[in-house]
Amino acid sequence: MMKRHALALALAGLLLGAGNGAALAAEATPQPPREKWTFAGPFGKFDRAQLQRGFKVYREVCASCHSMSLLSFRNLAERGGPEFTREQATVIASEYKVKDGPNDQGEMFERPGRLADRFPSPFANEAAARAANGGAAPPDLSVIAKARGYERGFPWFLLDMVTQYQEHGADYINALLKGYEDPPAGFTLPSGAQYNKYFPGHSILMPKPLNDGQVSYTDGAPQTLDQYSKDVTAFLMWAAEPHLEARKRIGFQVILFLLIFAGLLYFTKKKVWKELEAPAERARGQTPVEGSP
Ligand code: HEC
Repeated sequence: MMKRHALALALAGLLLGAGNGAALAAEATPQPPREKWTFAGPFGKFDRAQLQRGFKVYREVCASCHSMSLLSFRNLAERGGPEFTREQATVIASEYKVKDGPNDQGEMFERPGRLADRFPSPFANEAAARAANGGAAPPDLSVIAKARGYERGFPWFLLDMVTQYQEHGADYINALLKGYEDPPAGFTLPSGAQYNKYFPGHSILMPKPLNDGQVSYTDGAPQTLDQYSKDVTAFLMWAAEPHLEARKRIGFQVILFLLIFAGLLYFTKKKVWKELEAPAERARGQTPVEGSP
């Protein structure tokens, strides 16, 4: 009896301990709040105006530190994205300086960007990027919305499969951009670092990039930190998955097709097997049919 009690106690202790550990870890890096994204769910679509604003935020704020080297200017005019007109995208490209060459003298030179060019990088190489940012190179943002995320843990990740929650990366980035705070008492920040509630380990070498009123919008959207970070996050999500809309549309069409096809198969099966099933039914003494053997 005593033995059993001791075992139960030990088990309870283990469970409590584990629970405590989980609670502590959760306190250390809180889960990002879930945002309502237009691109979430099976019928998700990007909001064009939001992507255009997000590009503006990237260009005016983030691009001074972060490259997006997988993106070309022509992508800005493609379907399913910000959908700038070709003319607008051409003008945007021409406002950038792109390194080209060598020319006849064997020298590299700069020229205005063209639609076929990739987005230029702010730093010549990673070492330069690292040196300029206190020892941490700002990561390329081309696919960052897919490269980052957070663990939801059991049982939520199972639920996420059913509800199709796929916006972990977007929710994390949005929270990160808004997560700058004063460090709690007793937290020692390394020099040059900032305290961020949602960054793993909390001490981040990216200075707070966005503040209210920093970027001017021409479409009347609120010029707030909240709006900026949502817009730039949506833009990063599109960059990481430019065919998201097509994927969701085609996925739905395939499911619809499979449902109809399953129905057709059912009736085909009935028809094909009718002749073979009918004698069997007769043998069981049902509805004798004239002229049958
Ligand atoms: C002054 C330079 C600078 C600017 C401007 C800047 N960043 Fe950063 N960013 C950094 C550096 C440096 C890091 C690496 C931080 C680290 O690892 O501690 C970083 C990291 C990140 C990360 C990765 C965080 C992670 O989980 O590893 C994201 C996402 C990001 N930045 C997004 C942005 C966005 C979006 C903008 C524009 C709104 C922006 N940054 C503007 C310097 C900058």
